Amino acid sequence: MLKRLPRVCFAGLFALSHCGDAGPTEAPPRGGPAPFGPEATLTVLRDDNPAANIVEVSLEAAPGRWTLSPGRTVDALMYNGRVPGPLLEARVGDTVVVHFHNALTVPTTVHWHGLRVPASMDGGPHSQDPVPPGGRFTYRFVVNDAGTFWYHPHVNESRQMEAGLYGAIVVRGAHEPAADVETVMMLDDLTLDAQGNIAAPGDLVEQHGGREGPVAVVNGRSAPPMTIAPGQRQRWRIVNAGSARFYRLSLGGQTFWQVASDAGAWATPRALREVLLVPGDRVELLVDGPAAGASWGVENLAYDRGHGAGLRSPMALTTLVSEGPAMTPRSPPAGGPPTRWLPVEGAHVETVRFSERINRETEAVEFMVNGRQYPDVPPLHGQVGRTERWTLVNESEMEHPFHLHGFFFQVRSRNGVALADPAWEDTIQLRGHETVEIAFQPDPRPGHWMYHCHILEHVEHGMMGTFIVPETPSRDP
Ligand code: C2O
Ligand code: CU
Repeated sequence: MLKRLPRVCFAGLFALSHCGDAGPTEAPPRGGPAPFGPEATLTVLRDDNPAANIVEVSLEAAPGRWTLSPGRTVDALMYNGRVPGPLLEARVGDTVVVHFHNALTVPTTVHWHGLRVPASMDGGPHSQDPVPPGGRFTYRFVVNDAGTFWYHPHVNESRQMEAGLYGAIVVRGAHEPAADVETVMMLDDLTLDAQGNIAAPGDLVEQHGGREGPVAVVNGRSAPPMTIAPGQRQRWRIVNAGSARFYRLSLGGQTFWQVASDAGAWATPRALREVLLVPGDRVELLVDGPAAGASWGVENLAYDRGHGAGLRSPMALTTLVSEGPAMTPRSPPAGGPPTRWLPVEGAHVETVRFSERINRETEAVEFMVNGRQYPDVPPLHGQVGRTERWTLVNESEMEHPFHLHGFFFQVRSRNGVALADPAWEDTIQLRGHETVEIAFQPDPRPGHWMYHCHILEHVEHGMMGTFIVPETPSRDP
């Protein structure tokens, strides 16, 4: 039998698609600084359409084997034979066409987390029937916003996403933070069973808290090597693809810049020593390389997210090593264009309450929105162009990351304290017993939009509702 030799990638010299297995879906990245590592585990979806403003790709979900580290593989569900699935790259204004084929034995959909797509392309329950095994579906939409987004199924999420179905999306626009190189890091964690495979759904404790596994992976690999040159500025686009894991990310206590959250560049970059990503969340960081020979632990710090869930002591993700010829250090980064607060005078007001209980008769954990479990949660009703002002109330002790499909919102206040900076988000932290006020305005994309907790066990046990935007009545007589 032929043995496949491990490939070596010289980080920084080659674009990431030149490393790893060459497959039919790979292509060089289209723009921006050359992406690299960690360990060149990401490839880019090949654009089969020669037109400059159309990105046309093929995506297939199928069972396969996922290599976590040399010699350690697990049965997985994969997009195009990889975990994470290949990166979808586009520019603002591009039309994206995805020819999707379901080669799983179960139904699935693809949800484009954070992209403002038409409701019929959103992949959520209500917006499309799941694609049956062997079935095909063509997703078609225009990408309107620059930022870091991701794609994943919206059917049986705690199995399908845990088994490896997720990939990143990068959309570039006019105001990109300057950096020497750019990388995408998808964070995930796994629970393996005695046979070394991904464990079946766990006990009541796991159903309640959500799955947090002891095996940490970055771009599907355990501790992939990461390097930086002295003085080099790297842009890290980070996605939390875990089922329930919160990442309180630290670089050995060193300072880095956060330049963006869910929806593109911030007006004012922030110097930080740690940053929190709830499940579904994204951040963009600028990391400046220290003197040659220095190495920083990339780690997840202890975090209590309520009811005993969370991390008790730091978890190592990988190590960043400074090596190679020194580059000229850069000055503090410039911000993107200013963001204005959405005016909320006369806005339509709603209260959305999140709660949980254990049903003593069935022994099941029930997660609720406004006192009911999805699909029995009464829908909320919006209107195109009418501002929505929602008060999110977490009536439970445990944190519930809130995600809204289809629209970006601004967080106006937390527990009555107004926020200083407006930023557009689609996924935010909702702490135990916290009240958070958000505002957004539906643009003309009618349909049924989901909002839910992004802990996968919680969404499956009822913590989801719908927001309905009707067709705008025609003004013609
Ligand atoms: Cu990542 Cu309903 O979403
Ligand atoms: Cu939750």
